[in-house]
Amino acid sequence: MKLTNNTILITGGASGIGLGLAREFRKRDNQVIIANRSKHRLAAAKADGFVTYDVDMADAASVRGLAERVIADFPALNGVIQNAGIMQAESLQAGDSAKIQDETVAINLLGPMRLNNALIPHFLKQKSAFIMTVTSGLAFLPSAMFPTYCATKAAIHSYTQGLRYQMQGTSIEALELAPPYVQTSLTGEHQMTDPGAMPLDAFIAEVMSILTNNPETQEILVERVHALRYAESKGIENYNQQFKALNDYMAAHRTV
Ligand SMILES: NC(=O)c1ccc[n+]([C@@H]2O[C@H](COP(=O)([O-])OP(=O)(O)OC[C@H]3O[C@@H](n4cnc5c(N)ncnc54)[C@H](OP(=O)(O)O)[C@@H]3O)[C@@H](O)[C@H]2O)c1
Repeated sequence: MKLTNNTILITGGASGIGLGLAREFRKRDNQVIIANRSKHRLAAAKADGFVTYDVDMADAASVRGLAERVIADFPALNGVIQNAGIMQAESLQAGDSAKIQDETVAINLLGPMRLNNALIPHFLKQKSAFIMTVTSGLAFLPSAMFPTYCATKAAIHSYTQGLRYQMQGTSIEALELAPPYVQTSLTGEHQMTDPGAMPLDAFIAEVMSILTNNPETQEILVERVHALRYAESKGIENYNQQFKALNDYMAAHRTV
């Protein structure tokens, strides 16, 4: 993708990875537009100089309305980073995760799909455009503690491949950013300072370096996520061992 002179909508861009990317793209002469749900986060992003829109990515009408408003206000819109997401632990034995499952599928999976449906006709008219989905290393080696979250990220990985194939020969590039565990408040405040998580600044710097040095890249993978991304590449036995090791470790160090 080209790194300058884009008009980019970033969902969930008022915190964590989205905000880190928003600041970096703004530095490189892009118009950056942030869409969030929380009023306090929207106010902080506005105070930081960003154009902001409110949206609830779980709500189909709200998502459609966002696309219509942004296209009307910024006809040059040619990029979206589908970054908004939630990650909540579930106990499947307790049988009480129906609400988490509904919300997670609506926000993490249907949200980006619906927003793409509303943006693709506009993007196809642009000279160059991009759609960047945000998945996770856990799309490739799932954490049992977050079954629905991991399922939505694996689904978005699959969906992004289909999107990329269908957009061949058009103006639209389909990119996937698959982060490792990064210091944000995704699962709660403890994650911001968890020494086991990659510092946010280092993660954003590595992502921008990959995009700068490999403009043709389709999957944006920092070094730290390679073990998860390629977990299956050494065969099923090895994969099963890694799955067990990851999940035994997470169960023993459970913080959420
Ligand atoms: N940090 C990690 O370890 C990690 C690893 C792999 C993948 N990721 C992915 O990276 C993305 C960004 O996460 P993050 O780590 O930066 O955490 P974060 O700071 O919590 O970012 C998530 C953002 O999504 C927004 N959001 C959630 N539900 C929304 C909704 N219904 N409508 C609109 N906005 C909504 C949140 O803001 P509101 O307050 O407005 O809801 C928040 O700004 C997520 O897709 C996540 O799955 C993160």
